[in-house]
Amino acid sequence: MEHLIKHYALEAGALEIQYIEEFFGEFGRKKAATEIVERLADREHLIHIIEAPLPDDPGQISPVAFKVGHEIRDGETIPKLADLVRRLDGAVNFNDRKVLYAWIGGTRRDWRGQGFFRALSEEQEAWALANGFHEIVVKTKNRFYEMRGTLDNLEFQVVKYERHPRDNGESKVYLSKKLDASVLKSHRLSRTVVQA
Ligand SMILES: CC(C)(COP(=O)(O)OP(=O)(O)OC[C@H]1O[C@@H](n2cnc3c(N)ncnc32)[C@H](O)[C@@H]1OP(=O)(O)O)[C@@H](O)C(=O)NCCC(=O)NCCS
Repeated sequence: MEHLIKHYALEAGALEIQYIEEFFGEFGRKKAATEIVERLADREHLIHIIEAPLPDDPGQISPVAFKVGHEIRDGETIPKLADLVRRLDGAVNFNDRKVLYAWIGGTRRDWRGQGFFRALSEEQEAWALANGFHEIVVKTKNRFYEMRGTLDNLEFQVVKYERHPRDNGESKVYLSKKLDASVLKSHRLSRTVVQA
C-alpha cells in the first residue's frame, strides 16, 4: 500500500492540526493554530498529514493522522523549549548538532493500526536526514501506552525518565533516535509526499 502524505505550509497546516486534534481524547490541552504558528515561524519545521475516507461516508476524505517536528537548539528563548533543552542536558548533545523535536502527532482512533504513523515517522526521519539533522527527540508520558509501544516499534531509545512525585503515570519519558544512512534502510513503507 502506498501512503500519500500531504506536506503543509505553516498557516494552513496549523489550522489543519487544530482541527484534527479535536478528535483526540488523549490530548488534555489541545493546540491552537496560533500557538503552532508562533512556535514554528522562525525555525525549520515539518507539518505532514495523511487523509483517509470516512468509514460511514467513503466519498468524504478527512485528515486522520499527523506529525509535526521542529528544530530545537541550545539557547532557546521560548520558555517551554528552553525548559526542554535544560531537561535534556546530559541526555542529548546539542553542540554543533542539529536536533529535531518530534513535537506533536497521532492517528485518529478509527484509523489506527494501518501504518499511518509509521509512514509519517519514516518520512520525518528521511526529511530530517536529508536536511542535516543528527537526531530526533520526542517526549511522552508513562501512561501513554500506545505511543510508548509505537515509539518502541520505531526503535526510539529512552534517554531520560523523569519521575512524577505523586503519579507515576504522569512521569515523563524522553526518547531519541540518532540519524544515519542505516535509518533509511530500516524503512518499510512506500510513501509519496505532495504539497497541500
Ligand atoms: C500511537 C499512535 C500514534 C499510533 O498510530 P498508528 O497509526 O496506529 O500507528 P501505526 O499503525 O503506524 O503503527 C506504528 C508501529 O507501532 C506499533 N503500534 C501501534 N500501536 C501500538 C500499540 N498500541 N501498542 C504497541 N505497538 C503499537 C505498530 O505495530 C507499528 O509497528 P510495526 O510497523 O513495526 O508493525 C496512535 O495510537 C495515537 O495517536 N495515539 C494517541 C497519541 C497519544 O497518546 N499521544 C500522547 C502524547 S505523546
